[in-house]
Amino acid sequence: MPFDVAADVTANRPLSADYNVLTLAAPAIAAAAAPGQFVMVKLGSGHDPLLRRPFSVFEVLLGNDGSPAGITLLNKRIGPSTSLLYAARPGQVAACLGPLGRPFTVVDPPGDAWMVAGGVGLAPFAALAQALRARGVSCTLFYGARRADELFYLDFFRALDVELVLTTEDGSTGERGRIVAPLERQLAARGAGAPVMIYACGPEGMLAATAKTAARFGRPCQVSVERIMGCGLGGCYSCVVPMRDDDGATHHVRSCLAGPVLAADKIRWD
Ligand SMILES: Cc1cc2nc3c(=O)[nH]c(=O)nc-3n(C[C@H](O)[C@H](O)[C@H](O)COP(=O)(O)OP(=O)(O)OC[C@H]3O[C@@H](n4cnc5c(N)ncnc54)[C@H](O)[C@@H]3O)c2cc1C
Ligand code: FES
Repeated sequence: MPFDVAADVTANRPLSADYNVLTLAAPAIAAAAAPGQFVMVKLGSGHDPLLRRPFSVFEVLLGNDGSPAGITLLNKRIGPSTSLLYAARPGQVAACLGPLGRPFTVVDPPGDAWMVAGGVGLAPFAALAQALRARGVSCTLFYGARRADELFYLDFFRALDVELVLTTEDGSTGERGRIVAPLERQLAARGAGAPVMIYACGPEGMLAATAKTAARFGRPCQVSVERIMGCGLGGCYSCVVPMRDDDGATHHVRSCLAGPVLAADKIRWD
């Protein structure tokens, strides 16, 4: 059940010229959120932009008494709303509706979890990694970005004992190229009897390549799709994703309700 709250901005930490981490005081949402769920957010009371925008719940923050107190958003500035969130100041108020959508299915040992993130697609994986590690699942984060200075929160994942595999398009950190290349190599090297769940979030091309690679090696894969979302509640149909039925026919789902996490092998990628 989502909560619609006026959340105080309590902190805003720039990570780069385009990325920041925004903290919102939203205890009810923090208490209810599961990894992979999202919130619809708009800063301030103006009419431009008119609509709220979707953001993954990045972290759930605990208060001094140990109870959920707030959430953070990993924000990448690309347009009007994300620019406002980049420039937000403590004391401003954000309209925040959530948690929304279907979360990731969190696996248990002995299976391993491989998270595949491209750019701001890192956002759902901080909370997911915490949930997986709390269950004792061995985790690897395959994380690709354009440059070294766009790889964030590496120490956060190291502190959770998550193995890191990094790529950058310019080769400034890790392997040069796309993140699917080391994923493919590690899948090829992995024994058939060693279960692994693949989780992916990032640009659509990366998701499609990850889905195809997972399918080629017969591994299950959950992807968090990022469609344009006008309402987040199933009312506007701006977020539909074509899915394959068992009989080969195509039907469309609203990714704000059926997703954002969907089974990769059910999506029609072409
Ligand atoms: C479930 C979900 C979770 C998301 N989580 C995050 C997150 O954690 N952090 C984050 O920074 N962003 C996230 N996004 C993307 C974010 O919602 C968009 O960047 C935001 O709506 C852009 O708003 P804007 O007003 O700044 O720019 P707009 O003017 O709305 O968009 C700028 C340009 O980007 C395009 N665009 C807008 N939304 C998307 C999208 N979802 N996919 C591809 N292109 C798009 C527009 O068509 C336009 O060309 C998420 C999206 C979804 C659907
Ligand atoms: S965002 Fe409106 S129906 Fe999905």
